[in-house]
Amino acid sequence: MLVHGQHYRTIWENENGSGAVHIIDQCQLPHRFEIATLTTVAEAAEAIRGMRVRGAGLIGATAAYGMALAAREFGGDPAALAGAASMLTATRPTAVNLAWAVNRQLAAIAGAAEPAARIAIAWQTARGIADEDAAWCRLIGRHGLALIEQISREKGGAPVNVLTHCNAGWLAFVDYGSATAPIYAAHDVGIAVHVWVDETRPRSQGAKLTAWELGGHGVPHTLIADNTGGHLMQHGMVDLVIVGTDRTTRTGDVANKIGTYLKALAAMDNGVPFYVALPSSSFDWEMRDGLRGIPIEQRGGDEVKHADGWVDGRVVEVLVAPAATPAANYGFDVTPARLVTGFITERGCCAANEEAIIGLFPERA
Ligand code: MRU
Repeated sequence: MLVHGQHYRTIWENENGSGAVHIIDQCQLPHRFEIATLTTVAEAAEAIRGMRVRGAGLIGATAAYGMALAAREFGGDPAALAGAASMLTATRPTAVNLAWAVNRQLAAIAGAAEPAARIAIAWQTARGIADEDAAWCRLIGRHGLALIEQISREKGGAPVNVLTHCNAGWLAFVDYGSATAPIYAAHDVGIAVHVWVDETRPRSQGAKLTAWELGGHGVPHTLIADNTGGHLMQHGMVDLVIVGTDRTTRTGDVANKIGTYLKALAAMDNGVPFYVALPSSSFDWEMRDGLRGIPIEQRGGDEVKHADGWVDGRVVEVLVAPAATPAANYGFDVTPARLVTGFITERGCCAANEEAIIGLFPERA
């Protein structure tokens, strides 16, 4: 996507052949656009753990490049690569793209006998995963566009109001995003679309990242406090909800940023279609019961007790709650398949049940 008129992906290799990998440092957004450099697998792991890169697809692509960095760092040594895989996989538990990308790297590397070939294959695989992520998200945009087009027709061209939660935008992937891809596609073909952006406490990925992205692309949007969506739905002000997911079971249960479940309940109560946009890399094909099976990341309570913002040219963190108050910080929740209207994938749209999902991905039967 464009940033100040220049095309960026969220992760890319150094063009001068230095072997470094660059990322947009998302901890600095929206106030500063800064590019960071990763040269070791430990730096890649730290970037994921510290959420300088985040979002399912980008976590996967960063882990893939982390394995490539490790391959070079450790001369293709299989034991060291196994250690690197464990280090990367332990960084964040919920997004399945992480383990998916690491396992794909391990399988690819295992096919090569020589250290030099292992290193080359690891880089090739990382490039493949990044390119595929961008291509899949572009296709999600194409398939999701049809849904927005139909609502636009039904509304006689009046703006289609989409509500989204957290950031499943291009910053959460390599490019385009999942939930935002249909929105960008609609905007680009001239369909009037307006986005309600949930602020998404405690880390405020909606306020910081989704608002920044949509603004950068010229998409009309309005930032709302997290608890506003239900009210808007009751008053006919939301035509469609589109969210992303960090892990979706083969039966259609959806883990996404904390608060998604409440939006799905409100959408069901008000007859608002609730769609989840995802590339196939975010399906957990082994899992059937999301509520019991999906690991939910718990982060430090300080994220809940504090807020940060831009004051006099720098980011300042302030304490919001009494210092001694205990806080719990569940990162994700699970929306059961029965509350999901459908999925938007790179292969098209389908209902939220195993039969329909496998209909799109028969190789997973
Ligand atoms: O904790 P994060 O920022 O990595 O969480 C991921 C998200 O932004 C959301 O849960 C998103 O909606 C799904 S990831 C495409």
